[in-house]
Amino acid sequence: MPRALLVDDDPASLGALAELIQLEGFATTTATTLAEAQARFEEITPDVILTDLVLPDGTGIDLIDSALSVGALVVLITGHASVETAVEALRRGANDYLTKPVDLARLKTILANVSRTRELQAQIGSLRGELRKLGRFGPLVGASPAMGTVYDLITRVAPTDATVCIVGESGTGKEVVAQAIHELSRRRKGPFVPVNCGAVSPTLIESTLFGHDRGSFTGAERMHRGVFEQASEGTLFLDEFTEMPIELQVKLLRVLETGTVTRVGGEKGIDIDVRVIAATNRVPEQAVQEGKLRGDLWYRLNVFPICLPPLRERGGDIDVLLEHFLGELNAGQGTQKRWSAAVRMALRRYGWPGNVRELKNVVHRAYILAEEEIGGECLPNDLGGRSLTNGTVARVPLPMMDGAEMGTTLMVRVGTSVADVEQQLILATLEACSGNKQKTAEVLGVSLKTIYNRLNAYRETRAA
Ligand SMILES: Nc1ncnc2c1ncn2[C@@H]1O[C@H](COP(=O)(O)OP(=O)(O)OP(=O)(O)O)[C@@H](O)[C@H]1O
Ligand SMILES: [Mg+2]
Repeated sequence: MPRALLVDDDPASLGALAELIQLEGFATTTATTLAEAQARFEEITPDVILTDLVLPDGTGIDLIDSALSVGALVVLITGHASVETAVEALRRGANDYLTKPVDLARLKTILANVSRTRELQAQIGSLRGELRKLGRFGPLVGASPAMGTVYDLITRVAPTDATVCIVGESGTGKEVVAQAIHELSRRRKGPFVPVNCGAVSPTLIESTLFGHDRGSFTGAERMHRGVFEQASEGTLFLDEFTEMPIELQVKLLRVLETGTVTRVGGEKGIDIDVRVIAATNRVPEQAVQEGKLRGDLWYRLNVFPICLPPLRERGGDIDVLLEHFLGELNAGQGTQKRWSAAVRMALRRYGWPGNVRELKNVVHRAYILAEEEIGGECLPNDLGGRSLTNGTVARVPLPMMDGAEMGTTLMVRVGTSVADVEQQLILATLEACSGNKQKTAEVLGVSLKTIYNRLNAYRETRAA
């Protein structure tokens, strides 16, 4: 039978809680002070400690270190006013917190999850081992100190239901972090539903988030479940939440506070069981000041902040990521392409304004253009690649391989030689076709042989 230690200085609530916990199949031991709790802890080595935050001779937080040393879980119980302290406790290693009056359903879920959480802890332990050996934490590659801090935060917050807010420049991996948290949470068998609030049109966003009932507006022929309902028992990833229309922010806040959504045109609220992870590449405080983000919504979402450092602050991770992405491409295609020392040096020195996404795209592009050793000519010009065109052809924008499509534009200055334009067009199309020469030939309406001939010619000119 699992053992629970309950600590509360109010004997009445202690007794009531002990009964509830026994009903859930735990052997319970109680204490009313920190000193007593420490003594009981030694005697029974509990699986879980449920403790009041404020105790006569200290705080529940003081029990965390001993609990961690034996792998026991800690659940803080706190009044509404001290949620911030409870969050501090999560950072220190507590597993979850309950606010008073204790919600019975939440308590039951937490207790039912004691063994599941222990499994998750074992999984996190093995990820830590992997980090030391392979320099990665689950899907996140890199072992710099800056990322080590992020992994610690993920580890602490994942098993809880706390709302997480991830802030970081574009391409730093916010969505990957959100997925990692989901995978390490007890919701991992449930859905992970991402929604980009900046990409949904203002007229559709309300129905996207909250759903709509049939006939609620012209064209609403069927009932539609919003993302909150779709993410039931899972995680909702609210990406770019700062881009949401201000009227909708009020509604979102209400949903987060009440735990119920009402579909557009709907009458009654629907209870939801969703963990929210929000992300933005803006500075939220600034968005609040500019009146784009409501302060109360920001306060509600920012329960547990995680700041993702830009790639330029991750030191050796650049090398690790270069090897990782190239290794993946090599493994997929059965090739053995490798970096030249000069290119490695150039890439190490580069500032990476587009962060990991930019690095991934640069690797992809270089991989496609290189034969075996990846030389400077395979890099975009602004990365130290030799200009092939004397600067007469500018590419806008640098195509992003993540979403490579034929929509990328080439801008050509009047007076550029036809040969130069042709070369840029062929290379850009080859890139957009992920290196597939046959497809490139078809798209450009020339023969495969032409493509081969041109590529050989370019290579020879470069080598010369
Ligand atoms: N640490 C990492 N290890 C491996 N791949 C990563 C890492 N960080 C990011 N990536 C990859 O980089 C790309 C961009 O990551 P992601 O989409 O999570 O960034 P983002 O911060 O959400 O960017 P944006 O603000 O533009 O939405 C993805 O292809 C992702 O798989
Ligand atoms: Mg993103």
